[in-house]
Amino acid sequence: MAEIDLKGVDEIIDRYKGEEGVLIQLLLDIQNEFYWISPEAIARISDKMRIPKSQIYRIATFYKAMSLKPVGRHIIQVCLGTACQIRGAPKIMDRVEENLKIKEGATTPDMRFSLRRVNCLGCCAMGPVIVVDGKYHGKVTPVKVKDILEQYE
Ligand code: FES
Repeated sequence: MAEIDLKGVDEIIDRYKGEEGVLIQLLLDIQNEFYWISPEAIARISDKMRIPKSQIYRIATFYKAMSLKPVGRHIIQVCLGTACQIRGAPKIMDRVEENLKIKEGATTPDMRFSLRRVNCLGCCAMGPVIVVDGKYHGKVTPVKVKDILEQYE
């Protein structure tokens, strides 16, 4: 997960090539696809779009939604939307943080997991919900957290 596939970056760049003022949207698309924006991706955008790297870095560091730090092999998203909160999501987040020994927003030192909070994944009836690499785990209880994490190397 930490390595960004530059072919994927090219596909995103091609969507916007030739258009003006699309840099922010392009960077957001890369962030959403790969969960971070690597120096290689920035170099590629700079080359293909003829935008100075310094300008790309300025934007990527300004917007909180963009990360210039690598992410772990697995991305865990814990839903803290209202419906999941009512069903005990804060305890799930606590348990994930305890197990991984990191706080929300961080990556484990061994690059195994990155932990994110999200607000509603659109499947509230399954709450509390956590998603690992796009796989949904519903009706999670604090006891189940360890078992779920152990499924990912
Ligand atoms: S609030 Fe968690 S899925 Fe909607």
